Amino acid sequence: MPLTIILAECGLELIPKEIRKHPAIQRNLKRDNYSSQLLDNALHHSAMVKLKDVGKRGRPDITHSCLLNALGSPLNKSGNLKIYIHTLNNKIFEINPKIKIARNYNRFKGLMAKLLRENEIRIKELLLISQFNGNLRNLVKSFKKKEIVIFSSKGELVKYHLDLFDKDLTKNYIVIIGGFQKGYFAEDILNLSDKIVSISNYSLDAWVIVNKIVSFYEITNNII
Ligand SMILES: C[S@@+](CC[C@H](N)C(=O)[O-])C[C@H]1O[C@@H](n2cnc3c(N)ncnc32)[C@H](O)[C@@H]1O
Repeated sequence: MPLTIILAECGLELIPKEIRKHPAIQRNLKRDNYSSQLLDNALHHSAMVKLKDVGKRGRPDITHSCLLNALGSPLNKSGNLKIYIHTLNNKIFEINPKIKIARNYNRFKGLMAKLLRENEIRIKELLLISQFNGNLRNLVKSFKKKEIVIFSSKGELVKYHLDLFDKDLTKNYIVIIGGFQKGYFAEDILNLSDKIVSISNYSLDAWVIVNKIVSFYEITNNII
């Protein structure tokens, strides 16, 4: 698949045991409602303050916005995009390009909570989201004829955006974008490639970066 996006260290997780009894959690928790079981900084902020890596956690909205941007693109519709979600807890999921992700945020959260419980989403025979068994290094190793590019505001600034990708739909570009709000990639992710690039003088939201990268790739390859 020519362009593969890995949304890395996404703040997607079920409410961790250590804070389940906190009033901010109990207030919003409904046993028969999947969406209420997902950690969400907008609802659970006061319960989350003491969690480790708090700046990267409880942000399902970031994954949601990134997926809507990527899956709705001409690149995806042309069959040239693959997306993986990697969570902060090191689960990796492959998204079927044909999935119609819920536009409604609560329904999306419900889907993600179900995914984290069952490790797949399927409708009858059709697998919509499946788990990749292995770590990020195993995942990137499974691609042939590849180039891995890590996107970070701390990377080397690329001014000519159309130089980012070669016009070559047979080459596998694997781009890694952080699916989190604050902080920078963990060391083991930075070690996946020597090519770490920035595409702006500003630190931008992950979904803006997804949108820009997909657009640069589309323009380079005349996909409209
Ligand atoms: C909200 S940022 C994470 C915050 C972090 N302080 C930063 O600027 O990278 C989410 C992700 O968007 C991407 N990103 C943000 N600004 C970028 C930039 N100027 N160039 C390339 N990627 C960027 C990175 O992949 C980052 O992990």
